[in-house]
Amino acid sequence: MALFQSSTSTLPEVTPVPRHIAVIMDGNGRWAKQRFMPRVMGHQRGVESVRSIVKACNNKGVGFLTLFAFSSENWRRPADEVTFLMKLFLKVLEKEVSKMHASNIRLRIIGDRTRFDEALVRHIENAEKLTAANTGLVLTIAANYGGRWDVMQAMHGLIQANPNRTTAFEEDELTPYLSMNYAPDPDLFIRTGGEQRISNFLLWQLAYTELYVTDTLWPAFDLKAFELALESYQKRERRFGRISEQLKGEKNA
Ligand code: IPE
Ligand code: IPE
Ligand code: MG
Repeated sequence: MALFQSSTSTLPEVTPVPRHIAVIMDGNGRWAKQRFMPRVMGHQRGVESVRSIVKACNNKGVGFLTLFAFSSENWRRPADEVTFLMKLFLKVLEKEVSKMHASNIRLRIIGDRTRFDEALVRHIENAEKLTAANTGLVLTIAANYGGRWDVMQAMHGLIQANPNRTTAFEEDELTPYLSMNYAPDPDLFIRTGGEQRISNFLLWQLAYTELYVTDTLWPAFDLKAFELALESYQKRERRFGRISEQLKGEKNA
């Protein structure tokens, strides 16, 4: 797959349907609490929202969908919740990967895998291998992912490849080493659950992404809620530092 340049160096094509949507799936715990259920029931129900947004993106011709499933900071949660989330991740892989494959979806997992147990790592590798040649939606799950971790591991890769370099590195030299080097920067960022923060998600890649926050909690985020996010996106004017008039004129003005 081609490597993409950062939206800060070239003017990306703006299409009515975003090429890349990145989502912080937040609010599972609150959804369960409102229903007097244990928090983990919210995670369980959240899987249904994942299914419906994946299907919608695949149908609409969205190229890339990236879902934040577990952050590098989420290890700080109570141990039983962390264990539940890891088991749920494994269960979802076991159950859904063949269906995704049948729908021509390519699955990729980004994040630090070194803390996952062996069975989970094996399932991740198998899922990526099985779906590697698929040409439909590229679904990325960010698991034990942190934006700062990503920038640091990319820097490490860059320096290792250029051990004797004494001159400064350029921005575009780093991007091939980032976890999402196979995707354009996200066009649309959706956060459910109402918090107005990035929580260490794709820090580098979100530089010019349109941000959309909704109070809807993730398990309640249905097709209608997704359409509202797309409608909001379509009303935006993406200027990438330029002025309005330049956008109607020459492409790279
Ligand atoms: C997001 O929902 C899922 C994960 C972080 C794994 P939360 O579990 O953060 O739900 P709230 O924010 O507590 O409601
Ligand atoms: C962000 O949600 C991480 C995921 C959805 C995986 P959090 O619930 O962990 O974010 P904070 O702690 O409220 O910032
Ligand atoms: Mg949360």
